[in-house]
Amino acid sequence: MKITIPSPGFGTFKIPDDGTAEASVREALKLGYTHIDTAAVYANEVGVGRALAEWPREEVFLTSKLWNTDRGYDSALRAFDKSLSLLGTDYLDLYLIHWPANRKQFGDKADEINAESWKALERLYKDGRVRLIGLSNFEEHHIRALDWTAEIGPMVDQVELHPGFAREDLRSFCEARDIVVEAWSPLRRGRALDDPSLAAMAARYGKTPAQLIIRWCIEIGAVPLVKSTHPERIKENLEVFDFDLTEADRAAIDAFEGGRLFTDPDEAEF
Ligand SMILES: NC(=O)c1ccc[n+]([C@@H]2O[C@H](COP(=O)([O-])OP(=O)(O)OC[C@H]3O[C@@H](n4cnc5c(N)ncnc54)[C@H](OP(=O)(O)O)[C@@H]3O)[C@@H](O)[C@H]2O)c1
Repeated sequence: MKITIPSPGFGTFKIPDDGTAEASVREALKLGYTHIDTAAVYANEVGVGRALAEWPREEVFLTSKLWNTDRGYDSALRAFDKSLSLLGTDYLDLYLIHWPANRKQFGDKADEINAESWKALERLYKDGRVRLIGLSNFEEHHIRALDWTAEIGPMVDQVELHPGFAREDLRSFCEARDIVVEAWSPLRRGRALDDPSLAAMAARYGKTPAQLIIRWCIEIGAVPLVKSTHPERIKENLEVFDFDLTEADRAAIDAFEGGRLFTDPDEAEF
């Protein structure tokens, strides 16, 4: 059975576990989000789990991610168990390797480390403890390197994607392999919202710049993950299903320039 990933997803990066994560996720679920994205390194799995506990588990698509210090077969399995226990659940809908081990840090060992982590995710998948397994911040060459040892292909790649960094090449590569692309920081962490041309375009649709961008992500076939701690914005970011972009507007956003804002996975030193 093909599993559909609900879109948009609710992102929780930088939402602290001081009651804010719990309150934001509770609000998101109440407003109609059915997809929550967290990660071990966000250190908010307890709060996310508390909000989830109030909801029928099967109605929520829940993602967490393997942090870099837990790469490798045994440590990845242990990290998965820890995430489940913090989240208070007995399965995940999606588990991702958060960042590839890269050559800059690990030289010739990088591919082997990624292969070992992937083996652990395959184990979890085969054991029915996670419904989908995937990657995050993997470029095409990292994904190709997994081909040597993978028994099961990745089902998702969660990457930085926003106006100015539309990832056409990676998206077509993933499409050909049936890998769903999820877009992190689709709003360029809020910075895209001040762009005057996006604001003018959004106004023509009677929409906000955030809604315009989220709609664009969906129309180009990516699953946007959007974070907010403000109830009115959480609501706004979900109201993206009552309009379509014209082809010209979609192409205009595709053509935005700017590039990557955050860390290049091949340069990461964390
Ligand atoms: N896999 C990875 O390596 C990776 C990396 C980064 C992010 N992610 C995932 O992707 C999610 C989204 O990325 P992100 O949090 O970096 O950035 P984002 O969703 O692009 O932007 C979030 C920022 O935009 C603001 N914002 C949200 N909706 C708004 C609206 N309607 N109007 C005005 N401002 C608005 C938020 O402020 P307020 O909160 O103050 O409303 C926040 O400052 C993360 O939360 C995380 O789940 C994954």
